[in-house]
Amino acid sequence: MPELEIENLRKSFGDNTVLHDLSLTVPDGQITTLLGPSGCGKSTTLWSIAGLHRPDSGRISFGGRVVFDGARIDLPPERRNCGVVFQSYAVWPHMTVFDNVAYPLKLRKVRSARRRERVLEVLGLVELGDHVDRYPHQLSGGQQQRVALARALAHPPDMLLLDEPFSNLDAKLRDRSRDWLRSLQQRVGVTTVFVTHDQDEALSMSDQVVVMSGGEIRQIGTPRDVYENPADLFVADFVGTANILDATTLAADGTTATVRLDGLADPLRVPHAGTRTGAVSVTIRPEAVHIVRAGEAAGPNTVTAKVETVSYLGDHYRYVLRLGGARLVATTTRPVDGTEMTVRLAPGDLRLFEPETTPDHEQEYDDE
Ligand SMILES: Nc1ncnc2c1ncn2[C@@H]1O[C@H](COP(=O)(O)OP(=O)(O)OP(=O)(O)O)[C@@H](O)[C@H]1O
Ligand SMILES: [Mg+2]
Repeated sequence: MPELEIENLRKSFGDNTVLHDLSLTVPDGQITTLLGPSGCGKSTTLWSIAGLHRPDSGRISFGGRVVFDGARIDLPPERRNCGVVFQSYAVWPHMTVFDNVAYPLKLRKVRSARRRERVLEVLGLVELGDHVDRYPHQLSGGQQQRVALARALAHPPDMLLLDEPFSNLDAKLRDRSRDWLRSLQQRVGVTTVFVTHDQDEALSMSDQVVVMSGGEIRQIGTPRDVYENPADLFVADFVGTANILDATTLAADGTTATVRLDGLADPLRVPHAGTRTGAVSVTIRPEAVHIVRAGEAAGPNTVTAKVETVSYLGDHYRYVLRLGGARLVATTTRPVDGTEMTVRLAPGDLRLFEPETTPDHEQEYDDE
């Protein structure tokens, strides 16, 4: 299976530019997930890869074979050989499961005996071997999505493109479908681009996550990279839950910054490579807020917070705390008594973000 390379992809609809110079590599045999809020250009990227949208410029290649290159090369979808499952799963209601999956093979004039063999093989893969003669209305939503997936795999694709394939499922079924798809993908080993706006799905399914916003890539990394070391405040906020605290850097020596949170007297120490002082944002994950228990040594970066609310969520408690002027969410498996608590914001769990500079293309518009 080849790797997918996208270079400097641009796409506009009228005067609305929805992809700004997108570049990324999807490694061979892995799952790469495009993650971002609604309207950020995920589906447009996927459709451009499949050959269903024509980008304005840029280059797309599969394992060195160029399928799109500006005005010069633009292979039609059937010559790109992508298996696609669309956002709203489209299985043909008037065809049985068998015929739905056989259809792409029929189009490619695969002989009937071979076709039957392959259809039964992929239906076995998606665990629908017992449902070959059913019609879509006789299947659950999850089963219909598996038919769509089997159809995408029927003629072995060079690339599997999945656009929110679980969006119509309830939370439990979605969880199971993710595990199941992940293990199927590993067995088949097909290079896969997966699109979702659900960060849990992105973290649990992917080898690589591409975080997008407004038609641009904010960060590319492993699930752990983007969660633990977000490149900017947008990624910190969008991937997982982050407390974002307004603060001022009082001093910074290139390794550690001394930072005062708004409304708190005692400054905190935060690892930071920069030396600029002034307004910043500091983030910490709710599970990283350490509640200091009675008798425990306080350590550095310890502050007192007021308890505003507490909720019980089965496997953990969620505290909303007031910290100076800020609201701080902390989660813990052990409840705390009282209306105040001492918390430690350990330096290694804090991230510091300087105010964002305007992206290049927005400056272009400003100049016009
Ligand atoms: N055919 C089209 N014509 C005009 N504008 C379009 C078209 N398709 C998409 N757009 C616009 O391009 C932008 C990106 O759309 P896209 O469908 O790629 O978003 P998305 O990230 O897939 O969002 P969602 O999570 O809601 O599916 C949006 O602003 C959308 O309105
Ligand atoms: Mg979409």
